[in-house]
Amino acid sequence: MQTSSLERPVLEPAVLDRLFGRSLLLTDDYDQTELGALLAVAARLAALDRAGTKTPFLPHELAYALFFDNSTRTKSAWAGAAARLGMQPVIVDGSSTQIAHGETAVETGAMLGMNAHALGVRHDLILGEGNSFMRDVRKGIDDYLAATGDPRKVPIVNLQCDVDHPTQTLADLCWLLERFPEGLSGKRIAMSWAYSPSYAKPLSVPQGIAMLMTRFGAHVTLAHPDGYSLMEPCLASAARHAAESGGSFRVVDSMDEAFRDADVVYPKSWGPYDLMLERVAANRARDAKAMGEIERRALERNARHRDWICDERRMALTKGGDALYMHCLPADIGAEVSPGVMARHTVNVAREASWKVHVIMALLATAKVPNLAEKLAAA
Ligand code: CP
Repeated sequence: MQTSSLERPVLEPAVLDRLFGRSLLLTDDYDQTELGALLAVAARLAALDRAGTKTPFLPHELAYALFFDNSTRTKSAWAGAAARLGMQPVIVDGSSTQIAHGETAVETGAMLGMNAHALGVRHDLILGEGNSFMRDVRKGIDDYLAATGDPRKVPIVNLQCDVDHPTQTLADLCWLLERFPEGLSGKRIAMSWAYSPSYAKPLSVPQGIAMLMTRFGAHVTLAHPDGYSLMEPCLASAARHAAESGGSFRVVDSMDEAFRDADVVYPKSWGPYDLMLERVAANRARDAKAMGEIERRALERNARHRDWICDERRMALTKGGDALYMHCLPADIGAEVSPGVMARHTVNVAREASWKVHVIMALLATAKVPNLAEKLAAA
């Protein structure tokens, strides 16, 4: 693994060759060496950007993105990444496409793939659907390109699904490696549920954090109240990675226990598991009334756990009383986190978010730019 220093990233052409034409739909799709290469490219692109060096490696290409959910950061990071690479970004509301009238994901992939040069997708609200939608879209694109002998590489970038939020968790990882250049081995990370009154949030961020940070030797504690479990394959992946990396992974039902001696805390809300599952049938039936009722019950359930807040008392339990606070944003201030803790970490969460543009650039560049190591070295 060659990512302990993001200031001196190692770009290995042989590993970058393996990423050419690839789509990362889960961080688990890439092996450790491939993830290291991706992070090295992100770091190099970030350094070039900071130095004001332009990297228009993909001029006159279309970076199309479909969002089936709201977004502030990821939409702008997609547009920013595409623009920095010389691509034309276009972002479309997924519900405004013919998918709403029954067009399949495979058909959609073929149609979008014939025009676009890269496709971003956010489809995160329905358990069991988002990641498989992306895989079907990719099949549609790949089948079309193969059938027509079209040599273009049209990768899919997962901009958040039901399982993972890879551009977020990789940005989180870049920020952690910037903050802890010695690496994550032995660091204690608390990924905790926190109270939210705003909406039943997807499970993909805590799942993605558990799956990714355990690969780097961190001791990850997942904390949540009863009823807020995560998808079983993600928990199994986190446990497997921890065993392989020399880190650890445990699940507790106490925010205090997770925070005790933590180096890093990541308190955020997600929806109750059983109600997130109930959404699947209501969504398939296009039953807006049932969806609204499930949302009401989810918020009622959340409200039983108003004491799950990241506040000054809990931060005092962390290592030296001064853990790094992280959040993918937007945070519910006054519910997930106290105003004082957020005020103290406002710049930190912005620096965390700022990595996403370079992670998306790295995903697009590794998938699409031939001889990338040479081009980055020459830039
Ligand atoms: N964290 C994150 O993905 O932010 P947006 O939902 O605003 O894109």
